[in-house]
Amino acid sequence: VANRGGMRRATWFVRCATCGISAEHDYFAVCVSCGGALEVAYDYSDALGIGPAWLQGRPHTIWGYSDLLPTPLGSPTVSLGEGDTPLLRSHRVAASHHREVHWKNECANPTWSHKDRFQAVAATIARDMGFRGLAGTSTGNHGVSAAAYAAAAGLESIVLYPPDTPVSFLHLAGVYGGQAAVTAWDARASLLERIIERPGWCRVDGRNPFGIEGYKTIAYEIVRDLGFAPQLLFVPVGSGKLITGIWKGFDDLRALGLIDHVPRHVACQAAGVDVLSVPLQAGSTEVPTRSGVYTVALSTREPTADSRVLDIIRRTGGRVVTVSEGRIMKAAQRLGNEGLAAEPASVIPAAAAELMCEAGEISEDESSVCILTSSLTKTPDLLPELSQRRPWRLSVNGDELEDYLLAAGLADIRGNS
Ligand SMILES: Cc1ncc(COP(=O)(O)O)c(C=O)c1O
Ligand SMILES: [Zn+2]
Repeated sequence: VANRGGMRRATWFVRCATCGISAEHDYFAVCVSCGGALEVAYDYSDALGIGPAWLQGRPHTIWGYSDLLPTPLGSPTVSLGEGDTPLLRSHRVAASHHREVHWKNECANPTWSHKDRFQAVAATIARDMGFRGLAGTSTGNHGVSAAAYAAAAGLESIVLYPPDTPVSFLHLAGVYGGQAAVTAWDARASLLERIIERPGWCRVDGRNPFGIEGYKTIAYEIVRDLGFAPQLLFVPVGSGKLITGIWKGFDDLRALGLIDHVPRHVACQAAGVDVLSVPLQAGSTEVPTRSGVYTVALSTREPTADSRVLDIIRRTGGRVVTVSEGRIMKAAQRLGNEGLAAEPASVIPAAAAELMCEAGEISEDESSVCILTSSLTKTPDLLPELSQRRPWRLSVNGDELEDYLLAAGLADIRGNS
């Protein structure tokens, strides 16, 4: 498998993430032996030449890191320019808490969320395997991204959404030519099976082992941009795929000797959907299903999570931090004051990092990265609630202008800081 500059691409294969048995026939099933989730694994001994320089100077999409992705040989990859998102230092957190906190701004992806990294890989593999369509379940962002990448790959798409999904997500999927369908929360999984059993449809839900590999590139970019692995990583957790994928990326870099430690992974959840605290405290390896989950952070409103998240938290010395609804909304506004408009689910890490700063649980020499997963602009219903200033209505002659400027404290801004 020859590669650029004499390097060789790591050979990949699919195996059970729990018992390690290789899955040779159906990559989209569960493990035939233990029922566990399947994952892509790599033979690093093939990845000759992946040293510190490998992280730098790559092409500016996730495919710059194709040596460590399940990339098909000989067929083109699907891309809309996903990845290579900005890593921004928070001046506000530095000023108020004297801590180094960075935002990884995933809103800068083609459909304004981290999901594009998943769907770029999933669509590439699906097309390479001869599938004609992508079908999945979503709480919003996943489906919009599936529709866009299906379009980019020349494939059809159908996505099943729960009842209270903001219509903007349904219509955005439609703009890309994808078919949105709304149904009951619990009906989504069984209806997906009915679509998948027809020929030509590839599943892009949690049972697709390929898409999650795209999330590894978040870890690669963080280490590339910081020059080291941060001590703490804050990730919002719904199904748990994102945190699992990022952890896999750090684990690759550790296995290849490019970093000396893996960050402590902090799983961030709204208190109303916290499914991790109980099994963590109980020392359990399974995440139970919780009924009646509720949060304004719709995208993470999942009644359970992948059990691998418990293992990742334990292995990395991480923890769960839960935040209240009020804290989520406040964190969204504070990010607005740094020039970032992120949706509630994606500001949970920012809220969690601030909680730990306030509690003195991050020391001065520790650096943190928070993953801001998706843009607020896709949920226009929330904009009035989060807007910090009411719009002015001005007559053409501007009679009201002086009063408005005074009332808003904008008449003389020389003393403002
Ligand atoms: C904006 C946003 N943040 C976080 C998540 C959580 O990701 P995961 O379900 O992989 O844990 C999602 C998932 O839908 C999301 O849309
Ligand atoms: Zn197994």
